[in-house]
Amino acid sequence: MRRNSFWSLICLLLCFSPLAAQTQAGKAVDAEGHQWWQHAVFYEIYPRSFADSNNDGVGDLKGITSKLDYLKDLGIDAIWISPCFPSPQVDFGYDVSDYEDIDPMYGTLADFDVLASEASKRGIHIILDFVVNHSSDQHKWFLDSKSSRTSEHRDWYIWRDGKGPGQPPNNWISIFGGSSWKLDPATNQYYYHMFYAGQPDLNWRNPAVRDAMFEVTRWWYKRGVAGFRLDAVDTLFEDPGLRDNPTVPGKNAFGDENQESKYNQKLPEVHDVLRGLRKVADENNAVLIGETWTADIAELNRYYGEGNNELQLPMDFLFTKVDKLSPAEFREQIAAVNSASGWPTFVISNHDIVRSYDRYGDGQHNDQIAKLMAGLYLTLRGTPIMYYGEEIGMKTTLPTRKQDVKDPIGLTGWPSEKGRDGERTPMQWDESQNAGFSKAAPWLPVPPTYKTHNVAEEEKDPNSVLAFYKTVLKLRHTNQALLDGNYVPVNDNDPNVLSYLRVYHDQVVLVALNMSGSGQKADFQLSKHGFTSVKSLLATGKSAIKGDVVNLEPYGVFIAQLSK
Ligand code: NOJ
Repeated sequence: MRRNSFWSLICLLLCFSPLAAQTQAGKAVDAEGHQWWQHAVFYEIYPRSFADSNNDGVGDLKGITSKLDYLKDLGIDAIWISPCFPSPQVDFGYDVSDYEDIDPMYGTLADFDVLASEASKRGIHIILDFVVNHSSDQHKWFLDSKSSRTSEHRDWYIWRDGKGPGQPPNNWISIFGGSSWKLDPATNQYYYHMFYAGQPDLNWRNPAVRDAMFEVTRWWYKRGVAGFRLDAVDTLFEDPGLRDNPTVPGKNAFGDENQESKYNQKLPEVHDVLRGLRKVADENNAVLIGETWTADIAELNRYYGEGNNELQLPMDFLFTKVDKLSPAEFREQIAAVNSASGWPTFVISNHDIVRSYDRYGDGQHNDQIAKLMAGLYLTLRGTPIMYYGEEIGMKTTLPTRKQDVKDPIGLTGWPSEKGRDGERTPMQWDESQNAGFSKAAPWLPVPPTYKTHNVAEEEKDPNSVLAFYKTVLKLRHTNQALLDGNYVPVNDNDPNVLSYLRVYHDQVVLVALNMSGSGQKADFQLSKHGFTSVKSLLATGKSAIKGDVVNLEPYGVFIAQLSK
């Protein structure tokens, strides 16, 4: 047993009051001023892959509506739907050709209205994905912009002359590979695209663009949307002088020279836009989630803004960068986000990164490890954003042949970069054909694990990953310490067991997570510190408390209410 930090805990318990919620403009849901999104559990739906109501192999809005009862029962309070707007699907919806409609492959605006009203009946908020940095090259704004150098919308995008014949305006490279400039032979100028050429960057320095995009958010708020996830906000502005980026040794997966994105990412002007979007969000009691790949807490704080006037939930992705089960590394990340100036957001998987099931799984105890990870990020102080399928232990399943790849990144980067198809496979509902996702062949193949890992099977099994998620989520929603309590690390030198308390006035919950493949004993010296009763709230397998010592099975979870 190593040094523990109970002495500091005692002080905390004696003089403790929960951290006041940050000043927020929306309606408070409790005495401490918390907002709805601080108590909510979010769930990302990749609409192509969730549920296919019309059996064309691609998911749709009616499919999502049909699964609302499942989501409610799971314990979900808000769904973030990845882009479902009209789109040529070059980047599967992240190339929007009309911000105020629904792509026919997903349904109609009327279907959206039904989804919104059915979700609202169940107390589920809807968050849309707002692709702010770029539109599709098929958007009417871009079609007009491209039509001539003097068109009304020319300056809505970023057009420049090349440096010389066949030479783009500067050395910037696209995140999806190659130069980020494409020549339009008709007007003999290049346009800028941070992502695919079919995704031209909007010119946010043009006030007309800003007004039009702000209007889009108002339009959806009126339709009942409760907020937006802002796509790629880092990339909104570019250096007006278009200075070359400094190069860095080595090449990326696409064979381009590496460079520091000094002049086309994270420019300070983005914060002015975020403050503006936030003002509109506040008028609508809405939440803004940001795709903010922050390098450190100082950067994260800038996204919360001064006095929390920018993003309520900037996704820092710090957890996704911890690629092994290391209590020390998780402690460091949790402490860091708890020291930040805003409310923490926790994400362990999404549509762009390898699923947590594979990132942490050891191949033998993957289900136990999936439960362990749920036991971690669903019991921390902050808002968790789940990813569909995580709750049933879905696996990343990469294509094995280039001809099967759908994601543009995988096509350009094959074989060193296989793309993101692996984390976007159809939701596994049951063991029938195509995992109950569709009667037609799905747009991506269903992983073979659907036979064992699917909703129907796991609903019958009290030891399934799904059953565990439901139990933790129920606990989280009904336990005040888990909702609002401060985070207090304990036994913080233990190399195997990550443990912490959530403390809300006199309510204390202990969470102990064994991140190792062998049984562990964690001594919390509870009686010495005046705790007279321990009520187990949740324990995996044989994990249990005996006296002051918690015995944890390999990858075991133990959660208990402590009282004096
Ligand atoms: C981030 C999105 O999450 C990703 O899927 C997309 O390809 C890029 N932004 C471009 O919109």
